[in-house]
Amino acid sequence: MKYALIALILASSLFADAQTLFRQCQICHGKYAEKPMGSKIAPGALTKDQISYALTRYRDSYQTSSGNAKVMSTNVRRFTDQDIEDIAAYIKELQAQRQAELEAQAAERLKELQ
Ligand code: HEC
Repeated sequence: MKYALIALILASSLFADAQTLFRQCQICHGKYAEKPMGSKIAPGALTKDQISYALTRYRDSYQTSSGNAKVMSTNVRRFTDQDIEDIAAYIKELQAQRQAELEAQAAERLKELQ
């Protein structure tokens, strides 16, 4: 628990910029990037490299993309390569946090049942 807290504090300072950038994503993809929206797979379920790859494609095709892809292109059109790397890492960090929260909830529930 103590280590989880330290990890959380460390992560929140490391990811300060990504955290700000990610706010605009949450309205569609949820608090932890767990919602897929138009895609089959939620951003959080992709690997870090897959997220970076997808975001780079969306950004670079801003002029030509259409439909759902255009929605994404518009979101990331001003992102730098560094922004993309940071936000991809941050999304994976959020998944780890979500997993920890779910496990804590399960542990609480188990105590209630005993
Ligand atoms: C207005 C809603 C909306 C917002 C805001 C939004 N997205 Fe998306 N996102 C979508 C839709 C719709 C798709 C499916 C696009 C497609 O079909 O190519 C998508 C797809 C994706 C994918 C690709 C998933 C895959 O399986 O290929 C990633 C990664 C992603 N979004 C990350 C982000 C990030 C990071 C942000 C914030 C910078 C963001 N999205 C903001 C709606 C949104």
